[in-house]
Amino acid sequence: MNREAMGEAPVGVFDSGVGGLTVAREIMRQTPNEKIIYFGDTARVPYGSKSKETITRYSRQIVRFLREQRVKAIVAACNTASAYALDEIEKELDIPIIGVVKPGAKVAAEATKNGRIGVIGTEGTIGSHIYSTYINEIDPGIKVLGKACPLFVPLVEEGLWQDPVTDEIATRYLSVLTDSGIDTLILGCTHYPLIRSTVRKIVGEEVTLVNPAYETARELKELLEKEGLLNGKPQELGSNRYQFYVSDMADKFQTFANSILKYGILSAKTINIENY
Ligand code: DGL
Repeated sequence: MNREAMGEAPVGVFDSGVGGLTVAREIMRQTPNEKIIYFGDTARVPYGSKSKETITRYSRQIVRFLREQRVKAIVAACNTASAYALDEIEKELDIPIIGVVKPGAKVAAEATKNGRIGVIGTEGTIGSHIYSTYINEIDPGIKVLGKACPLFVPLVEEGLWQDPVTDEIATRYLSVLTDSGIDTLILGCTHYPLIRSTVRKIVGEEVTLVNPAYETARELKELLEKEGLLNGKPQELGSNRYQFYVSDMADKFQTFANSILKYGILSAKTINIENY
């Protein structure tokens, strides 16, 4: 395939479920000409409580599926997969792949004024200490405090974005961070931007909330530009432009996606990811 034809190929985006849609939404906004093939691993969500080996195996299978769809680049729109699997997969792949952790770490390091950053994420992401590793590469003086919030993903997947139950659980999780004087908080799981207003209410207006999705989409754009892969052709709205695949419960995913994305999604197809 020549460069021009490659430029018209879609970008692959994946997550354990619906969380990555917050990143896909940002990619749609910042690079409206790009086609997207999204995969949500709805049969195997959550990723956050599983081992590095399992998440690496899952991510490899998804990358194989996306390669088969002839994507030109891949975005791991999942912090847990970015933390556990990205380095290994990057070495094996012949197209560019980016994750969400590095871009999020960069913005947070730039945003903090008092050198105290909080990170909330899955058990896997927080246990990997990946955010503090990247942040301290930028500035070793910054203190990074992590807090795993394992109940947030099921609450988001249940649609309880603004609910007293979510308020109560978020208050318990976040008190340790609010008490420690952070001035910046990374939403280190792609599901969390959907409960941003709950988090905002608890941490207060003075704390800067960092959603890595924005910076990830910007990094993708820069990368595609650099590689000469940015799609120059405006896309028609239609079934071909954004395609969604899941490993289970396509109808539920479709309803959910339609509540998050500006463009109505026409359909989500179920595939057997274990075949990859
Ligand atoms: N949304 C994903 C993340 O960013 C994973 C959530 C999960 O499946 O546990 O980490």
